[in-house]
Amino acid sequence: MKGVILAGGSGTRLHPLTRITNKHLLPIYDRPMIAYAIEALVQAGITEVMLVTGGTHAGEFLRLLGNGHEHGLDRLLYAYQDRPGGIAEALGLTERFVDGDPVLVMLGDNIVERSLRPTVERFCADPIGARIVLTAGQDPEHLRSLGVPVMDASGRIARIVEKPEDPPSPYAVTGIYCYDASVFDTISTLEPSGRGELEITDVNNAYIAKGSMAYDVLDGFWGDAGESIDAYYAVNDFVRTHGANRG
Ligand code: TTP
Repeated sequence: MKGVILAGGSGTRLHPLTRITNKHLLPIYDRPMIAYAIEALVQAGITEVMLVTGGTHAGEFLRLLGNGHEHGLDRLLYAYQDRPGGIAEALGLTERFVDGDPVLVMLGDNIVERSLRPTVERFCADPIGARIVLTAGQDPEHLRSLGVPVMDASGRIARIVEKPEDPPSPYAVTGIYCYDASVFDTISTLEPSGRGELEITDVNNAYIAKGSMAYDVLDGFWGDAGESIDAYYAVNDFVRTHGANRG
């Protein structure tokens, strides 16, 4: 399985910190944020990764990560996104790298407490369709700012709604997704959303519509360190106290 880490975007919610650097280079406890996503993939058994970034600080990733060997990767490749055209657009840039293999995609500002290995193993056992990672236990106010799945009577995801006024389930979609290579066909059919981006939720809803979406509910802490300054510090506090990517 290949790995893709997305580290482009604008990071406006962390302004003014992100006016002078890329969000994913900001520290989380004792390491730059991006190091946690790399570690999560390596720990899940993935050793070939493409990192997608953009903006004015892309070169710093090379300086930090080099060829990835020090971080446990066999191959680390880089792609450059010209403008922040959305998570799905960023993923689309990796098609030739992924080259028909199953792929684990992780947003570079997501931090998890526990290993992603169980999800990777389940997807690799039957690498067709998609498998996304949900988190439980976010409070209802927080759910209103996230992607929330609607569950049907049999416990499958019926669709995902973004930023619901009235959250239809207690789960939220994290930035961790396993896809088969048909994801690139879906991305090529997407139209930009109202905010001018190719949306990963549209990709996920396409898999759901085809009946080929599975999910896992994450064990332990999940944080989006780019959500707000308060979330950034809450993630820092968590990692300093409990660590991250624990087996
Ligand atoms: P977001 O946090 O949704 O977007 P952003 O980073 O532009 O931040 P803000 O809303 O504060 O301006 O992005 C989630 C992750 O996806 C983040 O780790 C960066 C990545 N991303 C890309 O790689 N390319 C993109 O075009 C976008 C929008 C996000």
